[in-house]
Amino acid sequence: MSNLSLNCENLNSFLTEQEVNSLQGQVGLCHDQLEEGSGEGSDYLGWLHLPSRFSDSLAAEIESTASSIRDCCEAFIVVGIGGSYLGARAGISYLNSSFSNRGHGGPEIYFAGQSISSDYHADLFDLISGRDVCLNVISKSGTTTEPAIAFRLLKDMVEKKYGADGAKDRIVVTTDSSRGALKSLADDLGYKTFVIPDDVGGRYSVLTPVGLFPMAVAGINIQQLMEGARKGEKLYSTSSLDQNDAYRYAAIRQLLYQRGKTTEILATFQPAFYYLAQWWKQLAGESEGKQLKGIFPASVEFTCDLHSMGQWIQEGTRNIFETFLTLESSRRQLKIPAFQNDADGLNYLAGETLDTVNEKAWLGTADAHKEGGVPNMTLKIKDRSPTSLGQLIYFFERAVAMTGYLNGVNPFDQPGVEFYKKNMFKLLGKPGI
Ligand code: PA5
Repeated sequence: MSNLSLNCENLNSFLTEQEVNSLQGQVGLCHDQLEEGSGEGSDYLGWLHLPSRFSDSLAAEIESTASSIRDCCEAFIVVGIGGSYLGARAGISYLNSSFSNRGHGGPEIYFAGQSISSDYHADLFDLISGRDVCLNVISKSGTTTEPAIAFRLLKDMVEKKYGADGAKDRIVVTTDSSRGALKSLADDLGYKTFVIPDDVGGRYSVLTPVGLFPMAVAGINIQQLMEGARKGEKLYSTSSLDQNDAYRYAAIRQLLYQRGKTTEILATFQPAFYYLAQWWKQLAGESEGKQLKGIFPASVEFTCDLHSMGQWIQEGTRNIFETFLTLESSRRQLKIPAFQNDADGLNYLAGETLDTVNEKAWLGTADAHKEGGVPNMTLKIKDRSPTSLGQLIYFFERAVAMTGYLNGVNPFDQPGVEFYKKNMFKLLGKPGI
């Protein structure tokens, strides 16, 4: 049984089944390129089979390191940016409590190195002052400026507090197997390291120790997460549009894009999905936006943003389509109480669950936006469980890779990211630039 379903009813007046199915030939060719490694970026296809190749020994290594970290610190700081940051943050927010960053009795979890903000990092130092701290620095290249700066600051703090020897037990490095400054530093100083496989790029790396280790420290069952991802690998590895919803979603995106719908809005109805949407934006944006092509991925959180961006979506420029990300069932059901004095006029909802009201908000919004000329579809997730999340991650990875190939770009590189770096380094007077 799938933990995820794709509902395309609200596309009916924009696209026909026949039009979607007419992409089957192209989808089949792109699927073969992915499976055979004959397309662009084929050095970075390791993510395709990460779930089925996830070994018991890696699971045990991640879990036992996470357990030692959980035992020895009150604050765990994950240092990384982009693909070395968003997956872990998305998973932890999706699965843990809305208000606590403490994972099931473990340490509080914070993130650093995803900006160069002095105030952010100074505030973090204030927050962790006097607490026992552990770090996980994540960088595939080992040379990315933002996490390198944050790691310098934090490593310095940890070494001053615990000494160089004590720091060894508190710093875990996730990086390339052999290359990069971080790898050399970890080897020199004897830090525990996890490897990011050579053939897995940053934004496709959440199902490696990049995402799995911080999630394990947060008390998340990574075996269940990978079980869900394996389910995704099985379900979304067929070329048939009739049977593969990830490819169906990709084909629909591509058709809508060709018709001028150049922005996709991922609209969620759960605050817990906020970072998942950020992760999705990176996955889609960095993979597809190149050669002057690509859907611009945006996100909103409903119903909150219905009171801000709702107006634009209903009646603004008609270059958008929407993908609703909804939840079949919350973990806990709250019911609206009846009041004798019905001053707020809500007694007609007395006894209803918040899930029921949220569902009607989704249905009402989807219809209103369709009437307003916004094609939309819905991905419904069964629950906020590691298994459902694993399947969802794999769904989006497959879909984004397919959309990239359908649109004739390499979904596994990011040449455009270098431009800002070059300018910044020049302005900073970096030697050799
Ligand atoms: O998807 C990508 O490749 C990027 O977003 C990287 O993850 C990001 O730039 C961080 O790179 P690194 O892990 O080398 O520090």
